[in-house]
Amino acid sequence: MKLPDLNEARKRTKKEILIKTSENIIKDNLKKLGKGKKYYVKTYGCQMNVHDSENIKAILEEMSFEETDVFEDADLIILNTCAIRENAHNKVFGFLGRVKHLKETRPHIICGICGCMAQEENVVNEIKTKYKWVDIVFGTHNIDNLPNILATSMERKEQEIEVYSIEGEVIENLPVKRDSKYKAWVNIMFGCDKFCTYCIVPYTRGKQRSRKSKDIMHEVEDLISKGYKEVTLLGQNVNAYGKDFKDAKYTFANLLEDLAKTGIKRIRYTTSHPRDLDKETMDVMAKYKNIMPHLHLPVQSGSNDILKKMNRKYTKEMYLDKINYLKKVIPSISLTTDIIVAFPNESEEDFEETLDLVRKADFEGAYTFIYSKRKGTPAATYDNQIDPVTAKRRLLTLNKLINEGFAKGNKRFEGEILEILVEGYSETKNHLLCGYTGNNKLVNFEGDEELIGKLVKVKITKAYTWHLRGELI
Ligand code: 5AD
Ligand code: SF4
Repeated sequence: MKLPDLNEARKRTKKEILIKTSENIIKDNLKKLGKGKKYYVKTYGCQMNVHDSENIKAILEEMSFEETDVFEDADLIILNTCAIRENAHNKVFGFLGRVKHLKETRPHIICGICGCMAQEENVVNEIKTKYKWVDIVFGTHNIDNLPNILATSMERKEQEIEVYSIEGEVIENLPVKRDSKYKAWVNIMFGCDKFCTYCIVPYTRGKQRSRKSKDIMHEVEDLISKGYKEVTLLGQNVNAYGKDFKDAKYTFANLLEDLAKTGIKRIRYTTSHPRDLDKETMDVMAKYKNIMPHLHLPVQSGSNDILKKMNRKYTKEMYLDKINYLKKVIPSISLTTDIIVAFPNESEEDFEETLDLVRKADFEGAYTFIYSKRKGTPAATYDNQIDPVTAKRRLLTLNKLINEGFAKGNKRFEGEILEILVEGYSETKNHLLCGYTGNNKLVNFEGDEELIGKLVKVKITKAYTWHLRGELI
């Protein structure tokens, strides 16, 4: 048993990052462990988690488990969790209640918890004491050891917990079962060293570790050869890519340019940090047509006082300068962001600064959040936490403004002919196909099933608040 430890997770040393290859992580005697058994993986949180689940699914299939999307049918249920806000926690504990209920009639079911919540001391202590029926807990640094953890728990029939709180390694060649045949997630770095004062991620995901560019290039070239049209480069702070290399000469801008030259049809990346987004990267974006004209650039607040308390290391003016440069070199760019309201000590004036920044930035979408206290982070100890009524009011005011920006961002494309990557049938309007434009706008249109996975041209006939309606041309 190895339990998480927040003090360990906080540490950063100068130790060189170990790159491990994951060949033979599944011993021969475990390759049939899942024969005749079904698994169900439920994923919460960010794209990193979505991609981790793609690795977990592939590992399970190499152990002969078969996927089911009906959770009541599963023999193995894994919850890949998120720790970013309190409500993410609540959802997981709510779902655990359903699993417990199911286990009453099907006691052989194995239940596992992984992801960021598994890295939290208080969560794992609770699971150990109050959720003894949860069979396995494994951390974000322990995915490659899943086969052994699972086998041990099945053999001993007792709770098996393995969570390292180390800085982390880079593990290459984990097997992957991708959700899509046309667009793929590609990790370029892991972890984060920014330590924004509200954020739990540097503790749950470890030190910043960039993958070697040759490994990333190789993965993207392989995806192209398999017919993939789009890649999204993933990392907590992709703009800091390479800053952890000993000879930190090869930057995110270099990587982006090398990937653009592979000729892959579409490149996106997420998430960015305003402090590390440099002019070179923006210039590369402007130079290559296959880098999509959309940037998600979390600002968090428009108040310089609050930005300082958040340890973001930029000002409102610096943020606006950067996006104005980006709009100059790519006039058609769509900008989206993340904003937290009601951070401790946020005054009405601070909040007004945020609204002012939103108006000036012309965001075409945003994820907005009420600040959520995370145990172990510096901001959790700050005085003057904002009351929930004020927080809710600020969120509603902000959302109204953001929604106007969303609608305006859609409206500007009415009458235009745009290229979209067709993803499948629309979730809400099932007879229509749907896909995203370069600017990341959702379009619904009529068309044949055979178009799925293709890049097609569509004329935008009408803009709605949340999507566009188009006609195939
Ligand atoms: N409370 C509220 N929102 C948070 N985020 C990160 N930590 C917190 C927190 N403690 C938001 C940030 C980040 C996004 C992924 O989640 O806006 O960009
Ligand atoms: Fe969290 Fe800040 Fe790192 Fe983003 S940059 S993951 S908000 S610490």
